Amino acid sequence: MKIRVKKGPLAAERSDAVVAGVFEGAKKLSEAAAALDRATGGLISAMLTSGDFTGKLHKTAALYPEKKLRLKRIVLVGLGREKDFTRDRLRGAASAAACAVRDLAVTSMLLPLDFAGIQLSAYDTARALVEGVMLGLYQFKEYKTKNNGTGGKPLTLCTLLAGKAAGLAGAKKGAAQAEAVSRAVCLARDLVNRPSNTATPEHLARAAKSIAAQHGIGCTVLGSRQAQKLGMGAFCSVARGSNEPARFIVLDYKPRIKKPAPAIVLIGKAITFDSGGISIKPAQGMEEMKTDMAGGAAVLGVLQAAAALKLAAHVVGIIPATENMPSGHALKPGDIIQAMSGKTIEIISTDAEGRLILADSLTYAQRYKPAAIIDLATLTGACIIALGHAASGLMSTDEKLIKKIQAAAEATGEKVWPLPLYEEYAEQLKSDVADLKNTGGRPAGAITAGCFLKEFAGAVPWAHIDIAGTAWAAKPLPYRPKGASGVGVRLLMELLEQWVEATGA
Ligand code: BES
Ligand code: MN
Ligand code: ZN
Repeated sequence: MKIRVKKGPLAAERSDAVVAGVFEGAKKLSEAAAALDRATGGLISAMLTSGDFTGKLHKTAALYPEKKLRLKRIVLVGLGREKDFTRDRLRGAASAAACAVRDLAVTSMLLPLDFAGIQLSAYDTARALVEGVMLGLYQFKEYKTKNNGTGGKPLTLCTLLAGKAAGLAGAKKGAAQAEAVSRAVCLARDLVNRPSNTATPEHLARAAKSIAAQHGIGCTVLGSRQAQKLGMGAFCSVARGSNEPARFIVLDYKPRIKKPAPAIVLIGKAITFDSGGISIKPAQGMEEMKTDMAGGAAVLGVLQAAAALKLAAHVVGIIPATENMPSGHALKPGDIIQAMSGKTIEIISTDAEGRLILADSLTYAQRYKPAAIIDLATLTGACIIALGHAASGLMSTDEKLIKKIQAAAEATGEKVWPLPLYEEYAEQLKSDVADLKNTGGRPAGAITAGCFLKEFAGAVPWAHIDIAGTAWAAKPLPYRPKGASGVGVRLLMELLEQWVEATGA
């Protein structure tokens, strides 16, 4: 899909479909809708008066103007009540409109920037519209041998139209930013949607190398033997049960500025298939465990977007990648292993493998003396019990970092909710024989996993985001089709951008 931004009067444009938003029960049309209404002799007002279209959120309707207009169709999209409107609803509306246009099997669409007629900067509007369109149109069809999607021609051109010259520069910037980030979200979604017989640890390593080659950033990939040499006993103990070679992937993006501030390290759990290991999971729903690398996929996406946008921050991505499988070589309950930090861990459940590979990643991260470490992981079923699918769990010992992540969540619509890491919870991880156990029982399972990680985070400001409930959508959501959501990419990119802005890094 090509995204273009230009300025000019609406009625002079040529496109297969022009989109205009309509608020439910609104007395007045937006500037764009009003202009279209005038140019068509009141086609939109007539539609609204008929009551056939009321502006209900995400509902769409197509209108066909007379031949003299070079806009072949007008697609109206409902924005819901104006008082409930948010930037996230703008993304959703853009997505609903784009999907409606796609279903008409035409190749181009035109989005006037004042599409909703609300007061948002040209930059923010362009960003939300492009995100909505690109993320909403996403489809995963790699394994369909026939093109059984919409059947028709693909929608390949989306033009944003700025009415006033003043908004053009901002809109261009916003669109370019959203395009790079949305590409990264789609990369993460592809990686998560792919099955584990394709998306192996080596597949992720190759994706990392291709990002590195394309953008000239550093990439190191360690195999099991090298990881063992570094003392990564926790990572290697999980990898041991699988025939698929493990990969410890590091991407290092440094901006071309004189004195970059200390790095921000992002860690993404990448279990390419979590069978549970010897503590094997029930068969029902086990196929979903191909998504247990969603954290790693998101971190790959963030590094791609940061490099593409030449972000002024030093960002390191660590992606520990392995399968968790049962076999004669596999880790067993009762085994005691030693992590890279030196701490010994008694394995109670081999299904609590994510925290093991993250433990060594947190230790490895210390070598960068980072300003902050943030890990993203599909870590616990308990987090889904606590927060469902609407929000990720946020755990941190650093109030400032919590605030920053919450601000990024607010801006992107990728919701996070804080869970406490009170020391009482850490009691549940005490072991009789080792320094700690890898599970803390059923109560507060998301939190005890966080407490486990905290033991390896050192003194660096650190946050853990549990995306078990948000990485995969069983039902389609606005601008997130069914399947992998790519959660975390937009959140972390926004955080990094706000970080750069605040520190002038
Ligand atoms: N990958 C799972 C967590 C998960 C569950 C992610 C459902 C997405 C959907 C993780 O490795 C796991 O198995 N966690 C266990 C921990 C328990 C053994 C302490 C869990 O949540 O049951
Ligand atoms: Mn598991
Ligand atoms: Zn897992």
